[in-house]
Amino acid sequence: MSTIKVGLLGFGTIGTGVVRNFQRNSEIMRQRLGSGLELTKIADLDIDTDRGVQLESGILTSNVDEVIANPEIDIVIELIGGYEPAKSFILKAIANGKHIVTANKALMAIHGQEIIAAANKQGVTVMFEAAVGGGIPIISSIKENLCSNEFSSVLGILNGTCNFILTKMTDEGSDFAPVLQEAQDLGYAEADPTFDIEGIDTAHKIALLSALCFGTSVDFEQVYVEGITKVSAVDIEFADQMGYKIKLLAIGKNHGDQIEVRVHPTMIPKTYQLAEINGVFNAVRLVGDFAGPTLLYGSGAGMDATASAVMGDVIAISRDIKAGGKPRVPIMGYCDDQIKALPIMAMSEVVSHYYLRFTTADQTSVLAKIAGCLGSHNISIQSMLQPEEREVDSVSIVLMTHEAKEADIAAALVEIEKLDVVLQPTCLIRVENDPV
Ligand code: HSE
Repeated sequence: MSTIKVGLLGFGTIGTGVVRNFQRNSEIMRQRLGSGLELTKIADLDIDTDRGVQLESGILTSNVDEVIANPEIDIVIELIGGYEPAKSFILKAIANGKHIVTANKALMAIHGQEIIAAANKQGVTVMFEAAVGGGIPIISSIKENLCSNEFSSVLGILNGTCNFILTKMTDEGSDFAPVLQEAQDLGYAEADPTFDIEGIDTAHKIALLSALCFGTSVDFEQVYVEGITKVSAVDIEFADQMGYKIKLLAIGKNHGDQIEVRVHPTMIPKTYQLAEINGVFNAVRLVGDFAGPTLLYGSGAGMDATASAVMGDVIAISRDIKAGGKPRVPIMGYCDDQIKALPIMAMSEVVSHYYLRFTTADQTSVLAKIAGCLGSHNISIQSMLQPEEREVDSVSIVLMTHEAKEADIAAALVEIEKLDVVLQPTCLIRVENDPV
């Protein structure tokens, strides 16, 4: 078999990692594949900056067509990121018969169906292991190793920047803003960290994982997303006193005729494995009906870890090419005519335990009034914490509820916030108590 030829779009951090992996481990890859892999062309608008890797002359080009329209190239790696021009380049490469490897979670979560339809029509594949969890082999685990299972849930800590910030806030009692600045200074958060801290990056990833686990399309617009910007040091402290940690948790649950897909700060018991995932690390907990709970943990981002996922996909496709060219595994892990369109449960229907922190006047009957409003909406209190420290003219009341419906909680809070003894908007954090 002759050498399989690969083209790369985007020579940034991950692209540089891909070049390093090609160069350092080419012999290992040749031994595992049984033929050579060649990085034939790299296209980037910037062909002058020194990335710290040596390339043979003629490899680097600013002309994207030298990759996507190059008849020699079998596989195109897209590491540009964002929607455009990445999407147009991928569609052109597919039309030219190239297999695609991408790390682009935003593109796959929003435009995946269009890209997959084009690939299926052309008889090529699209692989995107690097889009979720960096170097963690989560997508291939769902599509291949665990594919005899029906999954009931997939829970994840999927954004290293948010996990770094929440871990620091927990360990040091710091507030959000200074820790975000530190994350930016260390290069973890983007210069514009909106997608990270507002939960959007995490939502793209859980949309993809839910689609893969539950065999359904996922309408990203229906995914509930709440980031970490309102998480305060005081809530982290109260959570700690109650035996919980606060994480930005991505939640996918399968109810048969509908699914839950949501992202929000979540209190999880300290004894829960996901509570131990700290710093920039990511983890995903899958529950399959035969495999049971499986936790995958590792580097969720970074040059080398993400390059590892990219190159794993390149080798998987190369093996298919060697075996005759037809992609062996469906792009979303289910045969295309078997993919459902399950609705996403409305947030108002979601059932959870809730942490509620009220800021109230320090006077008699306040608790009775709040408990009355909760009771009239069928919300039962599981436990309560009232710290002794208090402001001059206000006090915090912290309640943990039994399971309640989100719509009932919302209705109760509207009434509670109308009480003259309640001085500030209530802080609400959902609680994931029972690992399913
Ligand atoms: N910004 C992402 C993170 C990088 O912090 O995890 C990987 O998607």
